[in-house]
Amino acid sequence: MAVYEIVKNGDPVLRQKAKPVPEITPNIKKLLDNMRDTMYASRGVGLAAPQIGVSKRVIVVDVGDGLYEIINPEIIESKGVETDIEGCLSIPGVVGEVPRAASVVVKGLNRDGKEVQISAKGFLARAFQHEIDHLEGILFIDRAQNVRREG
Ligand code: NI
Repeated sequence: MAVYEIVKNGDPVLRQKAKPVPEITPNIKKLLDNMRDTMYASRGVGLAAPQIGVSKRVIVVDVGDGLYEIINPEIIESKGVETDIEGCLSIPGVVGEVPRAASVVVKGLNRDGKEVQISAKGFLARAFQHEIDHLEGILFIDRAQNVRREG
């Protein structure tokens, strides 16, 4: 179990375009483990590698129906628009309304290097879009309306 400190808004790593993972090494599997542990310890529903200071295209997501670990994720299909409230572990205490595709298909590699395709809608689709944005150096506040302190 390795829980990392989450990088906060203002750190340049969050604004870099993360690098594709060319092959799945033991280090990448360790990165996935550390990201999972850090996400759960922080009570987050998703985490992108730049948020623990690693500029690689790796995300983990769990909105309550199981863990997704995706390497080199890409959105290959998106439909509709839904606007809903969002926050981010890198911008604690801040929320805003973000328009996102209502449903997406995400393609990438799992930890065994197998290609996976996930069809997601609603909150899961939102979480994937939010985490994949992190890999482009985009934060939810860039897309949000009515950004405010929570509560
Ligand atoms: Ni985030």
